This record gives sequence, C-alpha cells and structure tokens, in this order.
Amino acid sequence: MATPKPFISDIESIRKRAREHMERGAVTGGYSADRETVLKILNEALATEIVCTLRYKRHYFCASGIHGKSVAQEFLEHAKEEEQHADQIAERIVQLRGKPDFSPQSLSARSHSEYAEGEDLVDMLEEDLVAERIAIDTYREIVQYLGNADPTTRRMMESILAKEEEHAEDISSLIEELGKKGEPAAKNVKSLRG
Ligand SMILES: [Fe+2]
Ligand SMILES: [Fe+2]
Repeated sequence: MATPKPFISDIESIRKRAREHMERGAVTGGYSADRETVLKILNEALATEIVCTLRYKRHYFCASGIHGKSVAQEFLEHAKEEEQHADQIAERIVQLRGKPDFSPQSLSARSHSEYAEGEDLVDMLEEDLVAERIAIDTYREIVQYLGNADPTTRRMMESILAKEEEHAEDISSLIEELGKKGEPAAKNVKSLRG
C-alpha cells in the first residue's frame, strides 16, 4: 500500500523558499496564477468599480421627481459599496506587488461598464441595471479564470460578485415599482422587461 501523500508535501523546502525573495511579501513561490494577467484583470475591475461609483454618485445627486428621494438613497448606498469594492481591489493589487491604476485618462477604456448619465429616473435605473449585469458576467468569468490558482483573489471577487447580484436585484425591483406607480418613462420599463 502506498503511503498517503502528506498534506504539506515538503515543509523544509517551503521554509527555505519563504526566506528567498522576501521582497515579494505575500507573493510566495507557491503562487501559481499568472500574476501579470491577474494584475491586469484586477486593474480592469478597479476601473469598473470607479466608473460605477461615479455613475451612482451622479445619479444620487440628479435623481428628481416624486420618487427621486427614496431612489436617491439607494443610489448613494450603491455608490458607497462600489467604492468599497474599488478599495478592496486596489488593496489586493498592492498585496500582489502591482500598481493600482487610478489614472482618470484611461478609466472608461479600462472599465467593463460604461458611464451613462441617464435622462430621468427610470433611464438612470436602466443604465445602472445594464452596468450591474455587465459586472456580474465579467466578474463571474474572472472567478472562473482564477480557480484554485489564486484563492484569495477569487474569494474577494466572489464576494464582490454576490454584491453586484444584490445591486442588480435592487435596481430591478425599483424599476418594477416605478413602473407600477406610472413614472414617466414606464414605456422603457416595458421594453426592458419584454
Ligand atoms: Fe461593485
Ligand atoms: Fe454594483
């Protein structure tokens, strides 16, 4: 009978490796992901979160009409959560010995979702829902790509993905409620739902 493989295969070489390249901090020799690609992906996600923060902020300040106030509160909450996501991602980039890219010049080109201002309340909500749905699809792909090669980044992206799904659900419910209340752009809701 073969002896079962020990859980940590060779502690001596792991100890030795840990002393080499100390300047790499949390990035150890056992990091098996393609770091350059992970950093690129994370900088795109960072740009996406910054653009989402800006869009929700704009929507928060510009939400008007009878239902504007309550919807604005939701926009503000989302803006804060998108900012937290941006912070988490930037922190992870630094931990991986990369540089978080906050350059405003290339921001929208790197972002998965667009910065859309929206004409009225329903228009804004629709733009937000589209952006959330884009983030959901791209983040899901990132999670799949990371797999077991970088579990820490994968778990972070999984938790952000879960939050974006909540956001999409929130926005979708708001569109539905406004549609029932006969907000001016209710026809858009119909086309969106149809
Ligand atoms: Fe986010
Ligand atoms: Fe979101």
